[in-house]
Amino acid sequence: MIVIDSPPLENCLGFLALSSYVMTLAPSISRIVFPKYKKAFLPKILLKNRRLIGVFAFLFAFFHGWLLINKRHIDFSDFRTSWIYCQGIATMIIFTVLAATSNDWSVKALKKNWKQLHRLTYLAMFLLTWHVWDKMSGHWTYVTPISMVAILSTTALYFLRLWYEHRAEN
Ligand code: HEM
Repeated sequence: MIVIDSPPLENCLGFLALSSYVMTLAPSISRIVFPKYKKAFLPKILLKNRRLIGVFAFLFAFFHGWLLINKRHIDFSDFRTSWIYCQGIATMIIFTVLAATSNDWSVKALKKNWKQLHRLTYLAMFLLTWHVWDKMSGHWTYVTPISMVAILSTTALYFLRLWYEHRAEN
């Protein structure tokens, strides 16, 4: 029998982080995959507020990670313990770098490297899929299936975008 639990606060924060993160990816992916809806209300609003939504993703993820680090007594000096959480930690590092450079000053200072750096966001997409799958296997909460559908459909649309771009170039 499949048992699904209610998510505790730390899981809700993880879910909110994942949802905000997916919202930051949606406009650039949908612009290529669904060009007809480029000027629709939702993609326009998401694009306009992308940086702010990204900062929210960072804050939710930070408190999610912080609560779980305390709850599970994760010791960063012990490699074997922290290795178990490597995907979450790596995603958190990426979120921190992206949040710290999501401002006009960084765009100017980093010039074309800024775009390269912000491509790290796509690496977070794979790490996050692995994180949720690995950490929640066998004890899903109500938000786990929603997270899995959101991150997997975003990944599928991302590959579709790459394929469309490749086709347009050739
Ligand atoms: C220091 C970094 C992190 C640590 C230590 C960490 C730890 C964990 C742990 C232990 C779980 C399983 C909770 C359980 O068994 O109920 C979990 C689940 C989850 N984490 Fe993380 N995490 C980190 C970073 C992140 C980041 C950056 C995100 C999102 C952007 C994220 C999103 C999630 C989500 C969506 C779940 C599943 C919640 C559910 O389905 O109920 N985590 N995390």
